[in-house]
Amino acid sequence: MKEKIDQIRAEIEGFSGSSEEFKQKYSGKKGIVQIMFDDFRNMPREEKAAFGKVLNELKNLAMEKQQALQDAAPVKVKGNQPEDLSLPGNPHFKGSRHPVSLTLNRMLEIFGRLGFAIAEGPDIEDDWHNFGALNIAESHPARDMQDTFYISMDPAMVLRTHTSNVQSRVMETSKPPIRILAPGRCYRNEAVSSRSHVFFHQVEGLYVDENVSFPDLKQVLFYFAQQMFGEGTKIKLRPSYFPFTEISAEVDVSCNICHGKGCNVCKYSGWVEILGCGMVDPAVLENCGIDPKKYSGYAFGMGVERIAMMNYGIPDLRILSQNDVRFLEQFEMIQP
Ligand code: PHE
Repeated sequence: MKEKIDQIRAEIEGFSGSSEEFKQKYSGKKGIVQIMFDDFRNMPREEKAAFGKVLNELKNLAMEKQQALQDAAPVKVKGNQPEDLSLPGNPHFKGSRHPVSLTLNRMLEIFGRLGFAIAEGPDIEDDWHNFGALNIAESHPARDMQDTFYISMDPAMVLRTHTSNVQSRVMETSKPPIRILAPGRCYRNEAVSSRSHVFFHQVEGLYVDENVSFPDLKQVLFYFAQQMFGEGTKIKLRPSYFPFTEISAEVDVSCNICHGKGCNVCKYSGWVEILGCGMVDPAVLENCGIDPKKYSGYAFGMGVERIAMMNYGIPDLRILSQNDVRFLEQFEMIQP
């Protein structure tokens, strides 16, 4: 038995075939090592003690050898055929810009051509910059707890309810001429519906210089509407009220979905309201340290979601914040 074991060990160590051949001859169920174990079982007890250990070592050696042969074997390609390199791959969704970003970028680009520089302000704002400096009296309903998310009461800190906070910050810190565009997120404590949400985006425009007039404002907005919605687009200014502008207006554009025939986006009126605007109230200029006798200015603030909905025919504002890939991947091909 001893000589046999030594001989098999030498054979295993020197073996140089495939792992299948090795298994068949040595390590498999009908291999030599198993046969040796069968013989061992029938041995008289006194001999067993002498061979148990060596046999186990032989078995381990055989297992190690088989593993080594397997590891060294080349990886098999299925079906003996070379891979078909002409097969088309699986397409991947590359990711896309969000329709709100697409719309925002387009707005910045249009106003950029007119010389508006980008300005930013904080989302968490103090009472003064969101309300006080903008002439919004303590009793104004915009301050009501129902509209405004308060972060703290003393000192009063809010989630900004509009991007007009950037107006007050920029006017406080720079001298005219000022010509800025401030994009950003705003927050209001409103019921969520297909037309309103607790957060949304605005773009604020502000121009302060000597002799800035209401016709200047009207012309800039007309240019924007034509560029954004197409050449045939009309605008309509309706008198309105904002505490921080005097005179004030709301601006509608002709509905480019139904072209006046009536649809649910324009509520069958043929017009969609897109922004509020007006001449900066002299009291606001004064609050921010700008001489209202020397300077005048205009400001406007528009909702980005509303414009994105018009541009892409999106019927429900909520889809914009649901992150549904089936919706988002439709914008994959749209640049930039
Ligand atoms: N801040 C106003 C709003 O949120 C919009 C606006 C901006 C109006 C600037 C006039 C001037 O409704």
